[in-house]
Amino acid sequence: MEEPQPSALVTGASSGIGEVFARKLSQRGYRVLLVARRMQRLERLAAELESALAVPADLTVDRDILRVESLIKKQTGLEFLVNNAGFGVPGPFFEADRDALDRMHRLHVLAVERLTRAALEGMMRRGRGNIVNVSSVAGFFNTLNSTGYCSTKAWINSFSEGLYLEMKHLKAPVRVQALCPGFTVTEFHDVIKMDRSRIAESLWMTPEAVVEDSLRGLEKNRLFVIPGWRYRLFVGLNRFLPRSLRHYIAIKYQYK
Ligand SMILES: NC(=O)c1ccc[n+]([C@@H]2O[C@H](COP(=O)([O-])OP(=O)(O)OC[C@H]3O[C@@H](n4cnc5c(N)ncnc54)[C@H](OP(=O)(O)O)[C@@H]3O)[C@@H](O)[C@H]2O)c1
Repeated sequence: MEEPQPSALVTGASSGIGEVFARKLSQRGYRVLLVARRMQRLERLAAELESALAVPADLTVDRDILRVESLIKKQTGLEFLVNNAGFGVPGPFFEADRDALDRMHRLHVLAVERLTRAALEGMMRRGRGNIVNVSSVAGFFNTLNSTGYCSTKAWINSFSEGLYLEMKHLKAPVRVQALCPGFTVTEFHDVIKMDRSRIAESLWMTPEAVVEDSLRGLEKNRLFVIPGWRYRLFVGLNRFLPRSLRHYIAIKYQYK
């Protein structure tokens, strides 16, 4: 029987890091399923790529999560899942928009858990697969005014590590990665109305560089991929600092 064309599902494919993943996976021969809310953007991208399908869905809504789960289960050649959709909710936790916080938890936690579970079933049966969960360097830190964001990204790191261990123990040929970018030039900061000029230019990365690092990391089956040497250094040093010093730095060098 002829093998089906391998497919990849990318959430948050309508812009930024997700769009770049979609383009690069399409270039590598995958039929890409593009998931996000902005239908027009997805359709435009799908028309540009070799073989792609626009799947409009709001992954904070149960009905849409279920629809994407069942789409995943119907794929006979799903080899790639990129759980990338995400956004920030700035501000002190007690004042931050409660509904936005709920949506962020549903998107960063519930949707990631459900789509991963749905994809893994088929990947384990077929004996191959790649799962990239887009986290953040924020998953290794706690910074002021981003409590919900940092803690949901820490969950993604922990979830990815748990899965990675299970795969290793079972000697399963499914690769799991937590991709942890630092500041990346995308629409992320427009959505939260953050002025990019407040961040040193040397700290900004392009989504292309981030995705290239991720794909290279997958070839080596790296669990945590932190693009950019500066961010690897921050995360590495942070591990050795006493908690009290980490807290002092978080308060002194906060960005609002
Ligand atoms: N940019 C950075 O500095 C940075 C740093 C570290 C980590 N990250 C992470 O990288 C990931 C991608 O973000 P980005 O930087 O590429 O930002 P972006 O350009 O704003 O892209 C975010 C994507 O998520 C989608 N999305 C948002 N809410 C959604 C929902 N309810 N349902 C489905 N899709 C939804 C958006 O599409 P629609 O609006 O069309 O739904 C968009 O495609 C996020 O998880 C983010 O936390 C970003």
